[in-house]
Amino acid sequence: MASATSPKPFDIAIIGGGISGLTLAIALLQHNIPLTIYESAHTFGEIGAGVAFGPNAALAMKLISPKIHDAFEKCKTANQWPSQAGSWFTARVGDARKADKDGLVREGKKVGDALFDVHFGSDRGRGGVYRAHFLDELVKEIPEGVAKFGKKLVNMSRVEDGSGDVECHFADGTKARHNAVIGCDGIKSATREWLLGKDDPAAKAVFSGKYAYRGLIPMDDAVNLLGEEVARNSQMFFGYHGHLLTFPIEKGKTMNVVAFNSCPEWKNPQWVITTSKEDMNADYASWGPHVQKIIRAMQKPDIWALFYHLPCSTFYKGRICLLGDAAHATTPHQGAGAGMCLEDSLIMSVLLKEATSLEDVERAFKAYDEVRRPRSQKNVVTSLEAGTLYDFELEGDDLDKIEPNFRGRMKWIWDIDLDEEIERAKKIYHGGAAKI
Ligand SMILES: Cc1cc2nc3c(=O)[nH]c(=O)nc-3n(C[C@H](O)[C@H](O)[C@H](O)COP(=O)(O)OP(=O)(O)OC[C@H]3O[C@@H](n4cnc5c(N)ncnc54)[C@H](O)[C@@H]3O)c2cc1C
Ligand SMILES: *[C@@H]1O[C@H](CO)[C@@H](O)[C@H](O)[C@H]1NC(C)=O
Repeated sequence: MASATSPKPFDIAIIGGGISGLTLAIALLQHNIPLTIYESAHTFGEIGAGVAFGPNAALAMKLISPKIHDAFEKCKTANQWPSQAGSWFTARVGDARKADKDGLVREGKKVGDALFDVHFGSDRGRGGVYRAHFLDELVKEIPEGVAKFGKKLVNMSRVEDGSGDVECHFADGTKARHNAVIGCDGIKSATREWLLGKDDPAAKAVFSGKYAYRGLIPMDDAVNLLGEEVARNSQMFFGYHGHLLTFPIEKGKTMNVVAFNSCPEWKNPQWVITTSKEDMNADYASWGPHVQKIIRAMQKPDIWALFYHLPCSTFYKGRICLLGDAAHATTPHQGAGAGMCLEDSLIMSVLLKEATSLEDVERAFKAYDEVRRPRSQKNVVTSLEAGTLYDFELEGDDLDKIEPNFRGRMKWIWDIDLDEEIERAKKIYHGGAAKI
């Protein structure tokens, strides 16, 4: 029986060192679980863009480790306007085609006017961060030697000696044997493809019909263009087959922008491509002055194709398990993908803390799968739907229907009782016998 101070009698390979892999590693190291992170890149890194965390994500960080929560506190930025402190987004119409002959989109409201706010119910903390800075803070918590770089997983095999161990095969020809593998290798996960099999339609991500431009605008410029209130707080501009959102990051020094649009299919094997400023402007040619100003202020016209995973029937097989985007990559329309990664890391670490033998690891994976799969896959489905809501495709352009839908749709994500989820996971773990 392992004591609190001796290492657990099993060692784990974490494939991928993004938000999922790093938060999981920090969580597991606290419980003295031996592990190695295998990252395909030559260093840890995130793209230069913002990511917003909701109340559930903030709570998950607190419950995983004060170190992760401190990293978030250090980087986070919430709305910058006192009366908007509790607002997720202020909803506006951005598309000029919605205006009637009097220039109105709703009684007394013009294109670009504030229509209503969607408020966070609880005050668990939340906020947007600059991805690269947040990742840097997480990396500081990973001890030397835990991560191996330039290790791209290409295949796995079960060791044929009755041990149930897994051998990871890397692109550089090397192999590594571990008792268990947790695939945190993101939306293009090799672990997922191996686990589900190439022929499973859920093995590879599918195109959502939406793409996005992402940009950062210095806040001073944004204030000049849009005025204080619009620039410093989070905004969502609705339109026909597209929408645009902004939120402050870097303690209010920068406005993060994501501008969405639609196209029927995505043929390019690259998911991030550079277009021209002309094409980008053309996508919003019929939109109102706010959106046009924001689009024109964006520097690099990169398009991000938005893909997601179809639901799969399991997140684990034997001692191989999926976590984060590798398990449930989603469109970003509820801003909840990374939050789900954090919840995954929380539940996984709580369960592996309980485990005292190799056999327990698979039991932990089973309980994790049972607790996490329905919730994280529900986010994928409802997020896809949210994108169509903002793009006037779900309730049409009927603002009286859009408003209650928008206000109500995030509660189940934000207000989750994570202590209850932890208890439920432990109960399944302790109640269920190991899968034969
Ligand atoms: C446009 C957009 C906006 C978003 N906005 C938000 C938001 O506001 N809020 C939110 O909560 N979520 C948001 N998300 C979702 C969020 O970005 C993801 O859920 C999250 O970053 C996934 O983290 P991850 O660690 O699971 O995967 P990743 O960040 O993809 O990390 C995977 C890691 O694994 C490595 N890797 C990949 N393949 C291999 C391999 N074969 N071998 C070894 N290593 C490998 C990669 O190099 C990478 O480091 C957004 C997503 C998009 C596309
Ligand atoms: C993956 O490994 C298995 C088992 O060693 C082997 O049979 C298979 O050919 C490998 N696949 C690839 C694509 O290398």
